[in-house]
Amino acid sequence: MIEVVGSHLYVGSVRADRIAEAYGTPVYVYDGEVVEENYLRLRRAIGYRDLEIMYACKANSNVGVLRILRDLGSGLDAVSPWEALLGVELGFPRERILFTGTSVSDEEMRFVRGELGVLVNVDSLSQLRRYGRLFPETEVSVRVNLGFGAGHHRYAVTGGLSKFGVPPGQLGAVGDALREHGLRLVGLHTHIGSGILDAEPFLEAARRLLELASRFPDLEFVDVGGGFGIPYGPSERPLDVELLGGELAKLVEDFASRYGHVRLRVEPGRFIVGSAGVLLTRVVDVKEVEVGGARKVFVGVDSGMNHLIRPALYGARHEVVAATKADWPRVLRADVVGNICESGDVLAADAELPEVEEGDVLAIMNAGAYGYSMSSNYNLRPRPPEVLVYRGETRLTRRRETFGDLMRTVEL
Ligand SMILES: Cc1ncc(COP(=O)(O)O)c(C=O)c1O
Repeated sequence: MIEVVGSHLYVGSVRADRIAEAYGTPVYVYDGEVVEENYLRLRRAIGYRDLEIMYACKANSNVGVLRILRDLGSGLDAVSPWEALLGVELGFPRERILFTGTSVSDEEMRFVRGELGVLVNVDSLSQLRRYGRLFPETEVSVRVNLGFGAGHHRYAVTGGLSKFGVPPGQLGAVGDALREHGLRLVGLHTHIGSGILDAEPFLEAARRLLELASRFPDLEFVDVGGGFGIPYGPSERPLDVELLGGELAKLVEDFASRYGHVRLRVEPGRFIVGSAGVLLTRVVDVKEVEVGGARKVFVGVDSGMNHLIRPALYGARHEVVAATKADWPRVLRADVVGNICESGDVLAADAELPEVEEGDVLAIMNAGAYGYSMSSNYNLRPRPPEVLVYRGETRLTRRRETFGDLMRTVEL
């Protein structure tokens, strides 16, 4: 559990400031038990008897986290050949990995299907035809774009007028391509977007997908994608996963009773890992700026948008907790800013903080999803290490990058 006890923030039973001391800052810290709880909660919520949770590792591909999920029996949603390769190398069963790429080349399909033996979920008619020429008489899955989407930001909406998936109007041509190349359509997939807190869009997507599924007799699974949102602050109402899961199970049971058995797949990323991680960063500078009567306080930290891009990219809001002053009155309103040369380099705008000073450790909360996995070396800054707290052990699962790492691909 990641919780405040007295004035301290704890990850599992370990004080966050002690982790910062031991591993340096900035550092990503994950609580493996929270990963486990989130996974099991979703499993329980979706009461369908043949359910496969395909963890979307784009959210967080830390190997410690992946091993926990593998041991729980999770499958893997891979959106690049490298994610698929990592899954295979970590021992996820190939039949429980699905490769859902976008703008996919023949070379990528040769690798994923030909070398890894992983099922390809095609994103377009063009890709299906190319797949059929490369791998005739095999199995394939198709991603459908149902014409509507949802998400926490327009960049996170994938259904509708977007680059993703095959529109239902092209399913006739899909059938032709399947026949031409002797392909068996074993999966029908959709993913409408990310960070959705309302059950209805998922249910609508499931209803429409199942309606289309009745046209394909070889189907082994329907995959309704991920996108299960989490609240990032007290003003956001959590998704009612129990309600959603119950309704979803009913829809698929009903389909199965009419058209025959299918497996149900879901692809949660954020829901599993979002609340399981924090980014610990140290205050290095506090400054007050006054311009034309307007006043602002900037709390400068030793991390930035290169390590957590969600606030800069999506205007996302992450709560900030001062690791050793967690129960102090929040008397300071300030922007928590990083060390990157961009005015958009804000980790938390207008955050309510206690009186902080240089040396204090701040925890950027709910940073387990799309944190490290979207990080970069912008400004030639190394990425932070990742620490996993799990079953009473605190372990470095990825070391801090060095200047040498950044120069590894340079040809001199
Ligand atoms: C195909 C696919 N499945 C699943 C996900 C996981 O989304 P989320 O982390 O919101 O559950 C994504 C992310 O956008 C995705 O592209």
